[in-house]
Amino acid sequence: MIRAKITGTGSCLPEKVLTNFDLEKMVDTSDEWIVTRTGIRERRIASEGEYTSTFATQAALRALEAAGAKAEEIDLLIIGTLTPDFPFPATACIVQQNIKAVNAACFDLSAACSGFIYALSTAEKFIRCGQAKKALVIGAEVLSRVVDWSDRNTCLLFGDGAGAVVLEAAEGDHGVLSTHLHSDGNYWELLYQRGCGSRNPASQKNLDDRLIYLTMQGNEVFKYAVRAMGEVGLEALTTNGLTIGDVSLFIPHQANQRIIDSVGKRLGIGADRTYVNLGRYGNTSAASIPIALDEAFRAGRIKDGDVVLLDAFGGGLTWGAAAIRW
Ligand code: UT7
Repeated sequence: MIRAKITGTGSCLPEKVLTNFDLEKMVDTSDEWIVTRTGIRERRIASEGEYTSTFATQAALRALEAAGAKAEEIDLLIIGTLTPDFPFPATACIVQQNIKAVNAACFDLSAACSGFIYALSTAEKFIRCGQAKKALVIGAEVLSRVVDWSDRNTCLLFGDGAGAVVLEAAEGDHGVLSTHLHSDGNYWELLYQRGCGSRNPASQKNLDDRLIYLTMQGNEVFKYAVRAMGEVGLEALTTNGLTIGDVSLFIPHQANQRIIDSVGKRLGIGADRTYVNLGRYGNTSAASIPIALDEAFRAGRIKDGDVVLLDAFGGGLTWGAAAIRW
């Protein structure tokens, strides 16, 4: 059976660090509140001249190097992002130019914080049906350019960065075992960017009314996320006849430590088998899972044959999971 196997991972974070103490000087908040309520201590922020494509390009090059693959061998390049360089063309096309992946079909995929899992699932289908042999799947964001830095409800949560994987067609039982995607459009207003689309286009008035930024009803998103991530994680396991005891590493979307703990409790998996880097990077949306995956792999936390469970949740609402045998 042909499966899509991850043969290389890579990530790239901005160098600039914004700590909770820096934020104390910007909005009415405290390090104590942020750490207790979210688990975040600092986040990375893009500098002038750095864009989503900047980090996506570096993450892609690192993943290619790790896979021992050449850019021209890539026949599919997908970026999950809610902060593309431009509304169009796709940031994937800009990355294609940067890395010279001349033979790739390129597109961006919009599924907010679930973007990487949605992109992984899409690429996996291309590979399994034979339409692609080697794919680059990237999650990349520069959220610092769409958050309202005067809104303490949101600005402290997010960070910038990118992660990437090379997926290759391979015979055998190693690779992506299954992916599971869900959406509930009834709740799109719980988390969205109000401006720069066709409803609230760029205008001085929309800028003055602060209508261009991301907005979120955190409490409601929180409750939905815990339930949905628990359910879809379980769905990924049962589909493959696995139990939580078979999982070597659980990599959840990094949005809030309390969400991660609650989902872990529902699934019955402890902190020792859960990868968390939220404290250092905040919520990097579609980039959070591939950054964590790359760090975990490079730290020796994932070995050949291990079962890894990825579990994401985001605006849309969207959520999804992937079970992978390394
Ligand atoms: O990535 C996609 C999905 N996104 C998420 O998963 C995010 C989900 N939501 C969350 O992580 C949490 O809801 C937040 C971290 C955003 C907020 O935490 P919370 O425990 O839900 O706090 P809250 O909004 O209920 O606010 C509690 C209190 C309020 O004060 P009162 O009304 O109890 O007096 C807020 O005014 O905390 C206050 N507060 C703050 N205080 C200091 C809210 N934001 C802040 C702040 N600093 N930054």
